[in-house]
Amino acid sequence: MKKALKWIGIILAVVFLGMQAVQPERSNPPVDESKTLYALVNTPPEIRAIIDRSCTDCHTHNTRWPWYSYVAPVSWFLARDVQEGRSHLNLSAWGQYSASRAIAKLDMMCQEVLDEKMPYPPYLIMHPGAKMSQEEIDLLCDWVETERDNLMQPDTSATP
Ligand code: HEC
Repeated sequence: MKKALKWIGIILAVVFLGMQAVQPERSNPPVDESKTLYALVNTPPEIRAIIDRSCTDCHTHNTRWPWYSYVAPVSWFLARDVQEGRSHLNLSAWGQYSASRAIAKLDMMCQEVLDEKMPYPPYLIMHPGAKMSQEEIDLLCDWVETERDNLMQPDTSATP
């Protein structure tokens, strides 16, 4: 029995070490500073503080990769969340969105937070400080409303 346990331990250790060989991509692609949300949409400091704290890791190219993001299998899930997060909403590449999409993305930012779907709940286990207070949720949603109204104004300076 003892011998069997020892072998199981050895096999698990080998499997664990083997998994470390499969490293996901943890890249932070270069950012064109003229194309970010902050460059293109009026974002007061209190809004930036919320976004930097609670959204940046998954929705920008400025992800802070913690030590456990280097340990498989956790690394695989984290890298996938970041990749998916960026593909749904990329604040580092806000310039890629047309005006109507930008409005929709802003609306979703408020909606997802209201529905407690964002910040992504599993993230809060390791980042309890990222949880948003009701006051911060209201602040974010008020900001969304103001900026969506600004975006809705027809841009008279644009020439076709
Ligand atoms: C741990 C990573 C993570 C964090 C932190 C995070 N998100 Fe997300 N977000 C995701 C993932 C993954 C998706 C795509 C899957 C989904 O919608 O559940 C997503 C999707 C979204 C979407 C798009 C929904 C859609 O249907 O296209 C919005 C909007 C969003 N997040 C807003 C936010 C906001 C605002 C914050 C900060 C308050 C935030 N997220 C924090 C991972 C994250």
